[in-house]
Amino acid sequence: MQKTLRAARPLPHWDKLKAKRLDRKMQRRIEDIKRRYEEPRASLLPILWECQNRWGYISPEVQKAVAEALGLSASTVQGVVTFYTMFHTSPPGKHVLEVCSTLSCHLSGAGELAAHLRKRLGIEFGETTEDGLFTLVEVQCLGACDQGPVLRVDETYHGRMTPRKVDRLLSALREEDNA
Ligand code: FES
Repeated sequence: MQKTLRAARPLPHWDKLKAKRLDRKMQRRIEDIKRRYEEPRASLLPILWECQNRWGYISPEVQKAVAEALGLSASTVQGVVTFYTMFHTSPPGKHVLEVCSTLSCHLSGAGELAAHLRKRLGIEFGETTEDGLFTLVEVQCLGACDQGPVLRVDETYHGRMTPRKVDRLLSALREEDNA
């Protein structure tokens, strides 16, 4: 699914400047990962993960540099980055909220959950709140279909979500941020 994240105002939690290029450390890391695979192309996903883990998103400059490092076209790398919902092309908020909209979750109330989140946060899918705290993303099956509707917050799954549970979760995350 193609996604676009509306760029938030500068976020203190991401080092945006360094993300504009691959530094030596990342170049060495790319070479390490490349060596694990017979085909350079096969190392693309782990390398993209590495970049996102380092900077929180994969800038166009980094996409281009990764393409050069692997001998791929920039459009191939861009196609992969924009295909997978887990990759971000601009800095996301501090917490990424992913709502599963696939059938099982849909039938268990994912639509209502998404509507509630959009209303509470005042943003649409693909957008980040003004304070840079939350980014809302619609994703396909998260592999926890018996727990629907499922909301993943960063790396943590929250199953059988209800608007009330969402409110408690958002409050807890806000409190944590203010602590
Ligand atoms: S359908 Fe939502 S986790 Fe599988």
